[in-house]
Amino acid sequence: MIVLGIETSCDECSAAVVKDGEKILSNVIATQIPFHALYNGVVPEVASRKHAEWIYAVVKESLEKANLGVSDIEAVAVTNRPGLFGSLLVGLSFAKAFSWARNIPFIAVDHMLAHLYAPRLYKGEIGKDDYQTKKPEYPFLGLLVSGGHTIICRADDFDKIQVLGTTIDDAAGEAFDKTAKFYNFGYPGGVIIDKLAQNGDSAAFNFSMPSLHKGDHRYDVSYSGLKNAVINQLDIFKVKENYTKEDIAASFQKTAIEILLRALLNAAEDTGITTIVAGGGVAANSYLRARLKGYAHLECIFPPLELCGDNAAMVAGIGYHYLKRGECSSIDVCASARVTGFKKKYP
Ligand code: KG4
Ligand code: ZN
Repeated sequence: MIVLGIETSCDECSAAVVKDGEKILSNVIATQIPFHALYNGVVPEVASRKHAEWIYAVVKESLEKANLGVSDIEAVAVTNRPGLFGSLLVGLSFAKAFSWARNIPFIAVDHMLAHLYAPRLYKGEIGKDDYQTKKPEYPFLGLLVSGGHTIICRADDFDKIQVLGTTIDDAAGEAFDKTAKFYNFGYPGGVIIDKLAQNGDSAAFNFSMPSLHKGDHRYDVSYSGLKNAVINQLDIFKVKENYTKEDIAASFQKTAIEILLRALLNAAEDTGITTIVAGGGVAANSYLRARLKGYAHLECIFPPLELCGDNAAMVAGIGYHYLKRGECSSIDVCASARVTGFKKKYP
């Protein structure tokens, strides 16, 4: 089955064509980063306007790259939750119109579940360029780390997850972005901090771990303390010449990733599940990847770097499995900015 995927939940306008849920025939990602970089963060109004301007061209390019015409598409999958409401609506409305005009099924999918699905995709050959090096077997533990969410979950199927832990305040990616913003490193912060940290001393600053790792919060994470601690170093950083931005980046990154690892290792220990699947923009982080590879008892599966961030291939991929089961969405399904259970309220 040839599925067209559409993803417009945040600042990437993406369309992809995927065969039988796994083979990527095309995956076009038009990034809006230059437009948001001016503001050091995503401006929702700008994001939805750009999606509206670009969506037709992006879908058209995805068909051209797949060497297919409109009539070859058998179904449409689209992200309708969670994300920026106005941005989601652009992709959702386009997907509805496409499926209605063509009289083919359409399915609205969850963005975070789609991130978890990403390692199952391949392009060209299986295993080439890190694409589907290993197909994760259920159950596994999911580590979903993006700009808006931080979720540790147990996954029993592509659509069946149990959230074990979340962030009680900021998301992991948000902490990278905010740190970069305060230090004027640029936007988006994650990829810049990752790069700077490679030449920095992670012991230059000692940022402590949050004390949140016991009882009900054993699998939860918190980033507001770390964020404030890093920001509080800004004045010292400005006057002391022996501190470099590389040192700040490395010290921040080390603690940010250790926070994730602590909660994840607790979940692995308690559940006895040793396969970990990472997804979302922060899953591209080189320190996280290196640290996780260091645990011999865990099998860690990462999507290729191109599929860590937002992309429509993962949407088409997961969509196929719903459609195969005979499920599709009603034409009046709406977008939803939030998904219950993906964020925790303190305490
Ligand atoms: O999944 P994603 O592309 O969009 C959302 O669904 O939010 O994640 C974007 C987040 C941003 O916060 C970005 O700074 C972060 O992923 N990110 C990284 C890296 N690459 C992107 N964080 C840490 N290290 C990276 N290499
Ligand atoms: Zn995402």
